[in-house]
Amino acid sequence: MKKQSSYEMQSEEGDILDLIIEDHKPLKQLIKIMKDADKYSIGQRRDAFEDFAPLLTIHAKPEEQSLYIFMKSDNDTIVEGYEGDVEHGIAEQLMEEIKTTENEDLWSARVKVLAEMVEHHIEEEEEEMFPDVRKNSELAERAKLGTLYMQLKTQFDAEGNFMPVDRVSEQYAERHMQH
Ligand SMILES: [Fe+2]
Ligand SMILES: [Fe+2]
Repeated sequence: MKKQSSYEMQSEEGDILDLIIEDHKPLKQLIKIMKDADKYSIGQRRDAFEDFAPLLTIHAKPEEQSLYIFMKSDNDTIVEGYEGDVEHGIAEQLMEEIKTTENEDLWSARVKVLAEMVEHHIEEEEEEMFPDVRKNSELAERAKLGTLYMQLKTQFDAEGNFMPVDRVSEQYAERHMQH
């Protein structure tokens, strides 16, 4: 096993990119349910959306206020940072519309579009954006951003938007394993 100094280990634990990738996991699980009307009933998709909405907010707002701000301060990543903001804005708007949609078919359509959009957004972050950020930053900077990201999440928690990631994972692990 490769030896690491304790400083390196600590920094790696707090790398904002790793923290975000962890937070994407339960969102991805819920997306699978939300977009699949063949496998999941309207009730199951409604439950999934109800968990998804606050979980996305508690992730997206801190991401905007830490990682995206950092990206917008660097010429190599500025456009991607703004792109992230724009996509978050569209998702937020769509979520608000879904909350007041009574027609079931329209609700299903909106939820499916939201799910596919966020799925694509997460994919782009993990496959394109994060490698660019990694190339254009030091580990120490990403660790500092990681601390900020966690602080912002706690702040949103205090504002009542928080649902512990573990609970959601547990809740869906069983259902998910059947497929
Ligand atoms: Fe994002
Ligand atoms: Fe994200």
